[in-house]
Amino acid sequence: MSVVDIHCHILPGLDDGSPDMTTSIAMARLAISVGISTAIGTPHWIEDEHETDPAQVRQMSADLQAELDREDIPLSVLPGNEAFVCPSLPDRVKKGDVLTLADKGTHLLLELPYEDLPNYVDDVIFRLQLQGLIPVLAHVERYAFVRSDWHVLDRWVQHGCLAQVNASSLDRTMGDGLAQDLVDRGLIACTATDAHDTAHRAPRSIWNEWGMCLLREVT
Ligand SMILES: [Fe+2]
Repeated sequence: MSVVDIHCHILPGLDDGSPDMTTSIAMARLAISVGISTAIGTPHWIEDEHETDPAQVRQMSADLQAELDREDIPLSVLPGNEAFVCPSLPDRVKKGDVLTLADKGTHLLLELPYEDLPNYVDDVIFRLQLQGLIPVLAHVERYAFVRSDWHVLDRWVQHGCLAQVNASSLDRTMGDGLAQDLVDRGLIACTATDAHDTAHRAPRSIWNEWGMCLLREVT
């Protein structure tokens, strides 16, 4: 059974995740040790603030894969982005500035502001869907507006979004029960590592039942 991590910062030197190839290799070893077989590297993309170059993300993914192959580490790495919501995001995705998950053009990992919910979010989600994309809402347990009222998430899920929680948030020693509550309500499609390093935000065990469908479409 293949386990796909759809949200991690394993690609070296592109954001606040892995700083170098050595760390990425160590993260890959940890990922394998917890049963992950594929990791989609999702460096942050934030308009005007932190715009990754899609060609560089693809190249870094290929470079890391080559290193893993050389080291005989059986982890597949694919490119992606964690895209911070902004009004022009659908256009930027259409232009090819932002990578979809596994570069497949079917799912977009979407990050929202942690505190206030901008009034354009519904419009952005709708326009992404009109472009044939399924928004995958990143670590929904972190957003204040979800924490105060889960119905906002319920509405997005009813309208075809997928929702992800971080595996660490289901850990009773780290999480506060909100992520588990969202899982119990049937709102969560998958967990992901959101791994940034090999220490505090390291790869850990996840579940993702639709991840293989995504990959099947890729290959
Ligand atoms: Fe992330």
